[in-house]
Amino acid sequence: MGRAIAASVVSADGVTRRFPDVETAMHAADGGCVELEYVYSPDAMPERADPRRGLWRYRGLLPLDPGAVRYPLPVGDTPLLALPALRLAAGIPNLWLKDETRSPTGSNKDRATALVLQHALNLGIETVSCASTGNVAVSLAVGAAAAGKRAVVFVPAGVAEAKLGLMLAAGAVVLRVRGGYREAFRLSEWAAAAFGWCNRNTGVNPFAAEAKKTMAFEIWEQLGRAVPDVLVVPVGDGVTLSAMAKGFRELVACGGAPRMPRLVGVQAEGCQPVKRAWETRLPVRPARASTIADGIAVEAPVCAAAAVRDVRQTGGGFVAVSDAEITEAVHTLATRGGVLAEPAGAAAFAGLRPALIAGLVRASDQVVVLVTGSGLKAPRYLVPARPVIEVPDDREAVRRALGDEAVAR
Ligand SMILES: Cc1ncc(COP(=O)(O)O)c(C=O)c1O
Repeated sequence: MGRAIAASVVSADGVTRRFPDVETAMHAADGGCVELEYVYSPDAMPERADPRRGLWRYRGLLPLDPGAVRYPLPVGDTPLLALPALRLAAGIPNLWLKDETRSPTGSNKDRATALVLQHALNLGIETVSCASTGNVAVSLAVGAAAAGKRAVVFVPAGVAEAKLGLMLAAGAVVLRVRGGYREAFRLSEWAAAAFGWCNRNTGVNPFAAEAKKTMAFEIWEQLGRAVPDVLVVPVGDGVTLSAMAKGFRELVACGGAPRMPRLVGVQAEGCQPVKRAWETRLPVRPARASTIADGIAVEAPVCAAAAVRDVRQTGGGFVAVSDAEITEAVHTLATRGGVLAEPAGAAAFAGLRPALIAGLVRASDQVVVLVTGSGLKAPRYLVPARPVIEVPDDREAVRRALGDEAVAR
């Protein structure tokens, strides 16, 4: 059973302060990113034969209370895919996709939702709240419905209709805030404190990063307890990236891995405050967001400093991709990989080409790309790869219409 023995706060200016317990760190956080610390030893890692599946397999390195897990949805255990046609298209023979689209609501947010709701179930907390560009809110709405809890979610005015429909369908209380994610985030912070709800906000609640880091543990196990050369990650708030770094750092601290992978963060050209902070070596400055990749359209990222630190420490870097490149990546993942991704979910794959050009990724590297969100929630970006073939109810017409396509291959 994991028990956090200390916690650090990484402030926006990159300064890290360490505290003897989580509560003190949370009180002192003041908008900084809280990171938990455990006792690291080989005992904290799962045994090969441990039959537990999903997220809970890594309980030695998770803030879990004793007792059985009561959260009912299966979370984690997403596949690490080796896709020959995609490898060819990317020009990277040792390319792997960590496919988080197979999660209960089609995004890696389901991991954090599970851990936070498990905590709420244990403590008897009835309401869990969040601010979200879309995916967190869908995930929390569905998870709360499954756990018998109430979800209150704050979303920006421009939230995608398909995602809005899903959170409403699952019975969440949805507040659509006039303004962007930043305004929604601020209001949700206030409301959680004012009304005493459990605040699931990414970057604020350290459980979000704790849950997300299990992707790193799974990748390590799926590669035969090995660390890839490079990990390519989409970056909005920067929590996913710094959580991946934390996961690999903890594997090293436990003696399970000899080194960290290089981390490459991918932002949208239309919203790249974390990449700018990395380039300028200055604290992150809010940016205006204009991109189809709503999940990474984060104007004032909460974990920018930690993400920049992790990219630097691992010898990685950041790249930015245009909406056109993201759209092309959605198409390539669908047609060459059979993976239906939403724009933010495809951003890391889109980042491969600029990362290769910048020398952050080599074609000979073992590269893992995170695909973080499903296209089923953003169908308008899944454009047809071919036209529909209209045919009458007639065999010869089918033969004629198919032409060369009828030849067996
Ligand atoms: C599909 C998708 N990918 C990536 C991200 C970015 O993750 P983070 O905010 O942890 O950087 C998000 C965040 O909402 C997302 O929805």
